[in-house]
Amino acid sequence: MSIDFKQDILAPVAEDFAEMDRFINEGITSKVGLVMSVSKHVVEAGGKRMRPIMCLLAAHACGQTEMLHSRHLAAVIEMLHTATLVHDDVVDESGLRRGRPTANATWDNQTAVLVGDFLIARAFDLLVNLKDFDLLKDFSSGTCEIAEGEVLQLQSQHQPDTTEEIYLKIIHGKTSRLFELATEGAAILAGTEQYRQPLRDYAGHFGNAFQIVDDVLDYISDAETLGKNIGDDLMEGKPTLPLIAAMQMTAQGSEAHQIIYKSIATGGTAQLEQVIEIVKSSGALDYCMQRAKQETDAALQSLQALPQSIYRDALQNLAKMALDRIQ
Ligand code: IPE
Ligand code: IPE
Ligand code: MG
Ligand code: MG
Repeated sequence: MSIDFKQDILAPVAEDFAEMDRFINEGITSKVGLVMSVSKHVVEAGGKRMRPIMCLLAAHACGQTEMLHSRHLAAVIEMLHTATLVHDDVVDESGLRRGRPTANATWDNQTAVLVGDFLIARAFDLLVNLKDFDLLKDFSSGTCEIAEGEVLQLQSQHQPDTTEEIYLKIIHGKTSRLFELATEGAAILAGTEQYRQPLRDYAGHFGNAFQIVDDVLDYISDAETLGKNIGDDLMEGKPTLPLIAAMQMTAQGSEAHQIIYKSIATGGTAQLEQVIEIVKSSGALDYCMQRAKQETDAALQSLQALPQSIYRDALQNLAKMALDRIQ
């Protein structure tokens, strides 16, 4: 039975979600017109809003009944996420995001970097209003780790010897850490210390699975479905899991091995078709799916520490649906 996003994930937090969305729009007000236009351009394009939804579901799963602060927290999470995307598209020289031209393509790199900075600063400005020092500490150190993840990735660019271990470190930083903040933050606000770690584990594994799937889709999906161009990773010579696995699964010295090696070392999409073929035929793709499945199972397992509720069910559905994107 396939999972229906609206009914099986969003419905339990539909009211919270609407409020959260309002808080995001209110939150991105600025005295400077250009800050507003750029922020609105990205925020209004939508996006799946997975992180705030996860935050809201986690809050309820912890038994939170007074949701005002959790709704604000969810808005902060989405603002931080949006900021990382705006910065990421500059770094990756990407032209399409959420089905729209990116901020860097619409304006320029300078504008995108500075408005990305504004969004991070504004997110913390709003977070301070929640007056929770533990939460603030978690978010400030977590945000440092997100930045570190992106820098680690930059260092691994064009490095064909990048291992799966390094890859996991990168994706944990750049992607999973923000999911962890979303759920752990909800537990902190709810005052349920006992659910902090299980929810963090859930989100960490979820984030790993999500990024592995995303990296697979960069080879096998299309711009229409994703709202962003495929082949961007190869263009940039990024050693994501499909290529790391393909390096492992092809014999050293073979033509296939050399094609992958060279693609990472030099970047460019001239050999995209061949690379896709090798990723599929070498078993690399199957390996990625298997790893994504393992991470999803670990995420689901972590949730068992929480009491049964419709919110926990929805968190389970979210993890399963993220995996379904490649099945
Ligand atoms: C994109 O995240 C960045 C990754 C971690 C792959 P999403 O796929 O959640 O982006 P939006 O918010 O839906 O646009
Ligand atoms: C997403 O990374 C950005 C962050 C998680 C900060 P990627 O570069 O892998 O994702 P897309 O493909 O641009 O969404
Ligand atoms: Mg990137
Ligand atoms: Mg990118």
